[in-house]
Amino acid sequence: MLTVRGVSKRYGSVLANDGIDLTLNAGEVHALLGENGAGKSTLSKIIYGYTRPDAGEILLGGEPARLRSPRDARALGIGMVFQNFMLIPALSVLENVALFLKDLPLVLDQEGIAGRIRAIGGRFGLQVDPHALVRQLSVGDRQKVEILKLLLAEARILIFDEPTKVLAPHEVEGLFQVFAALKAEGYAILFITHKLREVVACADRITVLRQGRVAGGFGPGEAQVGTLVKMMFGESGGEAPAAMAPVGGGTQPILELRGASARGAGSETTLQGLNLTIHEGEVLGLAGVSGSGQKELGDLILGLRPLTGGNRWFRGEDASSWSIARLRERGVAFVPEDALAMAAVPGMSVRENLSLGTGAVYRRGLAVDWRALEAAMGASFEALAFPMPPLDSPIAALSGGNLQRVVIAREMAHGPSLIIALYPTRGLDARSAASVRDLLRRARDGGAGVLFISEDLEELAEMSDRLLVLFQGALVGEFPRGSWRLEDVGRLMTGSEEVAGV
Ligand SMILES: Nc1ncnc2c1ncn2[C@@H]1O[C@H](COP(=O)(O)OP(=O)(O)O)[C@@H](O)[C@H]1O
Ligand SMILES: [Mg+2]
Repeated sequence: MLTVRGVSKRYGSVLANDGIDLTLNAGEVHALLGENGAGKSTLSKIIYGYTRPDAGEILLGGEPARLRSPRDARALGIGMVFQNFMLIPALSVLENVALFLKDLPLVLDQEGIAGRIRAIGGRFGLQVDPHALVRQLSVGDRQKVEILKLLLAEARILIFDEPTKVLAPHEVEGLFQVFAALKAEGYAILFITHKLREVVACADRITVLRQGRVAGGFGPGEAQVGTLVKMMFGESGGEAPAAMAPVGGGTQPILELRGASARGAGSETTLQGLNLTIHEGEVLGLAGVSGSGQKELGDLILGLRPLTGGNRWFRGEDASSWSIARLRERGVAFVPEDALAMAAVPGMSVRENLSLGTGAVYRRGLAVDWRALEAAMGASFEALAFPMPPLDSPIAALSGGNLQRVVIAREMAHGPSLIIALYPTRGLDARSAASVRDLLRRARDGGAGVLFISEDLEELAEMSDRLLVLFQGALVGEFPRGSWRLEDVGRLMTGSEEVAGV
């Protein structure tokens, strides 16, 4: 039904898609598997006419397709379920579906459309009340509405970009049943995911993307989990590089979680009985694919999320109910995943943002000693070899990378004793990323404990004295330095250990 031929797309220095070839047949689920940043969404947006490729083409039924916009794609029978749904919450299911119909009638035949929704819903396992308001629906039901919308708009090629990310486990099962029903009626499904188990559970064919390229393809029954893992994460597997010797001296625990649990609401991940210790003088690496509970864990350590079970210890004191302010006073620094939302106040200047959370250090009575603050922050930027942004500019005007640098410089300015760093190098150029890693290692050498959370296995291998693996809110593996093979870590990250041998 659809052929992708030699598609390339570059964003600045990133080659998001690099000469991709792929075919999609009627009556099959074709899984596009790859870790974060592999280029899956880019390819799907190109197929949907949302993004134009720099090179290559999309053929439909053997003919080059003119895809200048999603409207073109829809007219050609291509539909897409995005990671974030495109529904209007205040409208009913019926109205959302009607807005998407190919020829929206002037006068809505409400009962007629409701009847079609029920009929299609029954046929494919997509039952929802046509008159319910979308905002009252669960996430799983909203996804059903998205699919109904596409089916009623006569799409024959359905692209799902990480559809399971938002679903509870039992809903995932339901979605795969929907896939099976669709495929039996000749629909073509492109199923994008980074979860190996899901691919094994439902795909007829698999294409693995890595760093923008097709790393391999498999027909029914051909794929081995081990091979898939290697393809996703690269052959560099084998022994972790011994780039640096572990300091090893640090055995004093700084922070401990014992049986720590936290319930996640909505699409959040529930953390289940975590045991974890961060020692002085060590970088504890945390591997996991995105959405495994990294953000929730960061929040839990910092007291931004209450414990629903177990406890938290800080240097031998029960810190289960300590606030983030109290932890910060004890020298805990935090580089969050989303710097603008979590660590900066958008309406304030760079200078004011630099004073956040460190205010007490520079307070002279009611005033802030801005000069002392600037001197300390200047030194911190220097230590990181970061350019200092103009202090008077609004923080919201900075690029993502510059904002990340401001947060890191601020957090590192006062010799923290414990650093919780979520994806600290994300969005940084290679040189800045290297200097962040370098500074974290120097902090470690100076006796600080570092929790280093990343999805990048090579970076984790370079940084970690010890490595933990998080999967679906639970710690599923622990490796002392030098004892891990990236391939094993990759398996645990994708939950494929349970399907080993499939
Ligand atoms: N609009 C964009 N602008 C700049 N870079 C982008 C854009 N979209 C994607 N990228 C980059 O392209 C690469 C592939 O991204 P993406 O296709 O979203 O990967 P995936 O969906 O597999 O996680 C990443 O390095 C990402 O940062
Ligand atoms: Mg994506």
